[in-house]
Amino acid sequence: MHELDHYIYPHRVLHWLVAGAALLSLASGLTLGFLGFERTVSLIGNALTNLLYTSHKTLGVTILLLMTLRIITRLAFVVPDHDPPLNGFERIVSTSVHHLLYVALVVMPLLGWAATASGGFPVEFFHWHLPGLIGERPALSEKLFTWHEWLGWAIVVLVSLHVLGALFHWRIKRDNVMKRMSLFD
Ligand code: HEM
Ligand code: HEM
Repeated sequence: MHELDHYIYPHRVLHWLVAGAALLSLASGLTLGFLGFERTVSLIGNALTNLLYTSHKTLGVTILLLMTLRIITRLAFVVPDHDPPLNGFERIVSTSVHHLLYVALVVMPLLGWAATASGGFPVEFFHWHLPGLIGERPALSEKLFTWHEWLGWAIVVLVSLHVLGALFHWRIKRDNVMKRMSLFD
């Protein structure tokens, strides 16, 4: 009999695509937030600065699309049981971190979208301009960008806990947790 010991394959592919896109959007976002527009232009020039903003927004919108698919593959298909079972502490911490990551990865692009649009900037997705959906409101935009920054740091903390947890299961506890999300075995 075939025991279900992995998430379904599309869900695993989505996990790794979102993981890569989230790390890239954190890195590009923190670079832009830390340097600001003027300093980024003086360091790398106009063309590359625009490319960095466009890439960041495109990655963010892509994450929103991938997360929509991922929520479907998570809810529609059976999740494998842990074998060996997790203890109570591991179960509570990992479930909380996973749920918070799901919420954060949906709210974060929506905040970026709304902050950008209300600041009067284009919401870019590759070479397309998506509808802003809210009018220009600079005070609101400033507030939304502050929340975008705070949530960015919260995601950094959650991802760090998550990766440490994964490494603990993989290298120290040596159980089957890593295998559940692996593309190769
Ligand atoms: C999961 C997706 C996203 C992540 C993880 C992310 C992360 C970040 C982070 C960490 C910052 C730095 C904040 C700061 O230090 O001030 C940032 C800045 C920024 N983000 Fe995002 N972001 C995402 C999606 C988006 C989207 C969809 C848009 C717009 C369509 C967007 C637009 C921006 C802009 C314009 C900045 C620069 C703000 C500034 O110059 O202060 N982001 N992002
Ligand atoms: C090197 C980096 C990473 C490793 C080794 C890793 C590993 C794993 C593993 C082994 C699981 C399965 C856990 C279980 O079945 O209980 C998992 C689930 C999960 N991972 Fe990661 N991950 C990484 C990066 C990321 C990143 C960057 C994110 C989000 C930004 C993320 C979000 C999630 C979420 C939300 C789950 C819950 C399971 C689900 O999708 O339903 N992971 N990860």
